[in-house]
Amino acid sequence: MHGRRALRWFGAAALVMGIVVTLGGCSSGTPTGSTGTTGTAPAAGGLKIALLLPETKTARYETQDRPLFEAKVKELAPDAQILYSNANQDSAQQQSQADAALTNGAQVLVLDPVDSAAAASIVTKAKAKNVPVISYDRLILNAPVDYYVSFDNEQVGKLQGQALLDKITKDGNAGKTIVMINGAPTDNNAKLFKAGAHSILDGKVKIGVEYDTPDWSPDKAQTEMDQAITKLGKTGFVAVYCANDGTCGGAIAAMKGAGIDPKTRPTTGQDAELAGIQRILLGEQFMTIYKAIKAEANTAAELAVALGKGTGVPSSMTLSKVNNGQIDVPSVLLTPVPVTIDTIKTTVVADGFWTTQQILNTPALIAAGKAVGLQ
Ligand code: BGC
Repeated sequence: MHGRRALRWFGAAALVMGIVVTLGGCSSGTPTGSTGTTGTAPAAGGLKIALLLPETKTARYETQDRPLFEAKVKELAPDAQILYSNANQDSAQQQSQADAALTNGAQVLVLDPVDSAAAASIVTKAKAKNVPVISYDRLILNAPVDYYVSFDNEQVGKLQGQALLDKITKDGNAGKTIVMINGAPTDNNAKLFKAGAHSILDGKVKIGVEYDTPDWSPDKAQTEMDQAITKLGKTGFVAVYCANDGTCGGAIAAMKGAGIDPKTRPTTGQDAELAGIQRILLGEQFMTIYKAIKAEANTAAELAVALGKGTGVPSSMTLSKVNNGQIDVPSVLLTPVPVTIDTIKTTVVADGFWTTQQILNTPALIAAGKAVGLQ
């Protein structure tokens, strides 16, 4: 495949030049797939760590995971070189990017898989070269991965479901119909969020219609919500479960397009994206889940550097076990936190995830912020 060869060439060129290279996606034509290296030219023999992230439509990867991971690696191993790729939601592209990283001498792979099952073949190739693999945020299934760093993802779904159920009950709508917009069926996390949410909502509300959203695409979520409104009618549902802030944004856009005020239909989200937090402040989105990505990225960076240097797991790290269908993977699972309008200040702002200045960037947001003590 020519795209793969080109990718290797660019990867090699980037290594030589020590620069970041952005490529046009080979199949979709959108210029979001990227690969490259980051940082100053490495000292000879410097550690090479590959960071392979899954997509760009969800804000977290380029704005949080990548810079936070890179900063921690640089702090722990200043001469390390990071081979960075983003697969732009394309599992085949991720396979090529992993091949390129291995060809370019990556000594550790930190892999957030587009497809939790298909990524097992990347692990096989890495293992053939004695390269350890850290499964980052999403679990790679049926493969001998070395570590898994994520959040308690079933708990994410439970927290979303419980917050929505409490709100529905408070609004006097107990037992009524909701819409469910889940994440990508190829993402093991999406299955866990969905299972967690169902464990709370089933039997307590009617699920009028439910979708799995390919690629977690906000645009596809918007189309799904359009279909739900057509099927159930504008007044045929009282709330919408959305698995993350991106899909929630799509669902809210569909409601607005149909003339439904999103303030009248509580929605869930996840990631505490800036746009999500701002919608919550304006009353358009009901809640989100804050996941401290800094802790996640730092943990992955610490493990990657330890594996690359062969120094063993830092003693401060508490590991649990998560079965991936083949082995019990030593895992670090962090704790997700629900956020509503009343807790923006004590969660994401208190933790420095967003500053009030970043959040309050329009007159309407400044006014909404004042009302809840944010200024
Ligand atoms: C992550 C979420 C993210 C979603 C879409 C999930 O695996 O845990 O934080 O919103 O993927 O990229």
